[in-house]
Amino acid sequence: MGTSRLAGFYNLSLEERLARAALAAGLTPEELSVWTTGGISLESADHMIENAIGLHALPLGLGLNFQINGRDVLVPMAIEEPSVVAGASFMAKLARAGGGFQTTSSAPLMIGQMQVLNVVNLAEASFKLYEHKAELLAAADEIDPILKKFGGGARDLEVRTFPDSPVGGFLVLHLIYDVRDAMGANAVNTACERLAPQVEAITGGKVHLRILSNLADRRITRARCQIPVKELTFEGFSGETVRDGIIAAYAFAAVDPYRAATHNKGIMNGVDAVVIATGNDWRAIEAGAHAYAARGGRYTSLSTWGVNAEGDLVGTLEMPMAVGVIGGATKVHPAARAALKLMNVKTASDLAEIIVAVGLAQNMAALRALATEGIQRGHMSLHARQVAIAAGASGDMIEKIAARMVAEKIVRIDRAEELLESLA
Ligand code: MEV
Repeated sequence: MGTSRLAGFYNLSLEERLARAALAAGLTPEELSVWTTGGISLESADHMIENAIGLHALPLGLGLNFQINGRDVLVPMAIEEPSVVAGASFMAKLARAGGGFQTTSSAPLMIGQMQVLNVVNLAEASFKLYEHKAELLAAADEIDPILKKFGGGARDLEVRTFPDSPVGGFLVLHLIYDVRDAMGANAVNTACERLAPQVEAITGGKVHLRILSNLADRRITRARCQIPVKELTFEGFSGETVRDGIIAAYAFAAVDPYRAATHNKGIMNGVDAVVIATGNDWRAIEAGAHAYAARGGRYTSLSTWGVNAEGDLVGTLEMPMAVGVIGGATKVHPAARAALKLMNVKTASDLAEIIVAVGLAQNMAALRALATEGIQRGHMSLHARQVAIAAGASGDMIEKIAARMVAEKIVRIDRAEELLESLA
């Protein structure tokens, strides 16, 4: 992979951009051409879900300037919202001046849950499960020989008891499973279903639900960046003002769940775009992220922003990241495969770390805008283009109408329609 700094990329035509991206990643334009068709055929859609009647496309943009653990990476982002790709790319450029993003991941451990009802003595049943831990883990380990071959498998058991619930007391057995480069839902769900008879025999209870937990708090990815304060200088704002503005904005999200929800939504703008581009399950990622944000009993920010000894801005983001690079749509969707190829991603943790770095960059883009000129200015010109298209504009007319609406500060469909009529 060459550099992820592709100067002037924005001004190229769509075809030129694809050729440039392919060149930078050492691929042929043909290898990436699935993106110009949407990637899957109607026939494969028909095999993927029930009652298929068509395809649903999203724009795919390229996040530029990302450097992650010293490696340059071009990041495919599937998203309908304007400003996200530009914001992440610009912040990645600023982060690059401070050494890019440093990332780490825990082992890829997922949690499977078994709810055990009708247990006479919760403490006794819990202890018995621990006494049978070795045989339960050995049985769970046999279930997925492929994962086992690649070094995955059952790792641990944990028992939790809930003495008071609307249906009385019950016990929950957690199976901790190393899923290597898979997202892991299938392996974990299968393991939980297969272990159920043994668990019933040991506890004397009735196994009810057997399902993976999306609060994947054993599968955590962390990203950190530092931005030299001088890089933050922006129009009339000094670097220090922008830095302190970002930190004060973070403080708001740290203490107030109403703000934290929006702050984390900004993070997910970046995260989901890459999760979707790689064919992963973004609902699982969303569920895990927000549950993790509330793990302390109060919903809060997933990221932190502060200052280091040199006076530079330091950002961190820590969140569950249950993504895979084998199995599911990641394997069968040609556009997802092209995305992994473009990023030269080989393992699930490589992918997870790119995703979390993009989330952190995206968070900073939003906070920087909010702490300075406000979010609307940057949003407006792209939003105006969408409004112009919605009003029926095409070709050059889109830009003309959008520019007029931005200049007038009236970005509305009725105004776009009027302009379309008068300029046509
Ligand atoms: C909009 O999609 C995301 C933001 O609201 C995030 C934030 O407020 O931090 C701009």
